[in-house]
Amino acid sequence: MASVTATADTMTRQEWADEIRRLAKERDAVILAHNYQRPEIQDVADHTGDSLALSRLAASVEAGTIVFCGVHFMAETAKILSPEKTVLLPEPEAGCSLADTITAEDVRAWRAEHPGAVVVAYVNTTAAVKAETDICCTSSNAADVIRSIPEETDILFLPDQFLGAHVKRITGRDNIHVWMGECHVHAGIDGGTLRERVAAEPDAELYVHPECGCATSALYLVGAGTVPEERVRVLSTGGMLSAAEKSTADKVLIATETGMLHQLRAANPRTVFEPVNSRAECHYMKMITADKLLNALRNGTTEITVSEETAAKARRSVERMVEIGSPSRGGE
Ligand code: 13P
Ligand code: SF4
Repeated sequence: MASVTATADTMTRQEWADEIRRLAKERDAVILAHNYQRPEIQDVADHTGDSLALSRLAASVEAGTIVFCGVHFMAETAKILSPEKTVLLPEPEAGCSLADTITAEDVRAWRAEHPGAVVVAYVNTTAAVKAETDICCTSSNAADVIRSIPEETDILFLPDQFLGAHVKRITGRDNIHVWMGECHVHAGIDGGTLRERVAAEPDAELYVHPECGCATSALYLVGAGTVPEERVRVLSTGGMLSAAEKSTADKVLIATETGMLHQLRAANPRTVFEPVNSRAECHYMKMITADKLLNALRNGTTEITVSEETAAKARRSVERMVEIGSPSRGGE
């Protein structure tokens, strides 16, 4: 057992990992980590996965405490799904620029302009925004969620404009109104950057997260014949992992936050995975450090709460999200 004053910097990686596992057991805690977390956090977690898989795990795990290595809205979603559990976020300032693009008041005003519309919210929203919506989705089940809504019903899709454009494209519906929010990390992986990388690597396959500014450009490159259709896939982070495991490609270019590369490289060492934009790093995700996780487990910090009123209003839409779509990725 490490001294209670030891910091992650004074321990070897193995001593730190052993101490994390010991403290998690002592606290009856399960550690969930998003695919964008630092490699050491992904490796020490009980489960690493995409937003949908982690939400499903948060709803079903037996441990009394969930330590969420991700961002604030993810920990809130876990609390909404498992109100009886203690949910800890090792760094409470770990936010999300996309979630910040819309408030609960914005949703109420938008809904008032479109009476009868169904409001679909991406999971990257605050609990207060979720409480104003009808159904939530993640990038891995967004199209299934849209298809669960009658064809003739108008849909207000929020807050990500690129994911909104993607679901409009693949469902073929023209009655989807899209909120013009964006994630600064994914928006920064733009069409120009993608075209340069594809020109330099003409034989590589391409996995694109639908939040990316370049998702439309990727499909344009397919339409223009620059890249063959079978080499381009628009995927959630969990979808990327499943595709990577089966890939026989020599090289795949990855358009999403760079933390994803750790899982992809471990899943398939035969294929070379390279980022489309190596600067696409989410500083919120990277706020969860080895030391912060150690402190969270030692001190029970920082507990995330959602008021009973907000949680009760948000729960139905989050539960619908968890029920819809095929299994997504969250492993050991
Ligand atoms: P997924 O892991 O669900 O694809 O989400 C990506 C993301 O940007 C989370 O913030
Ligand atoms: Fe939010 Fe973008 Fe970071 Fe995901 S990558 S948590 S959407 S800021």
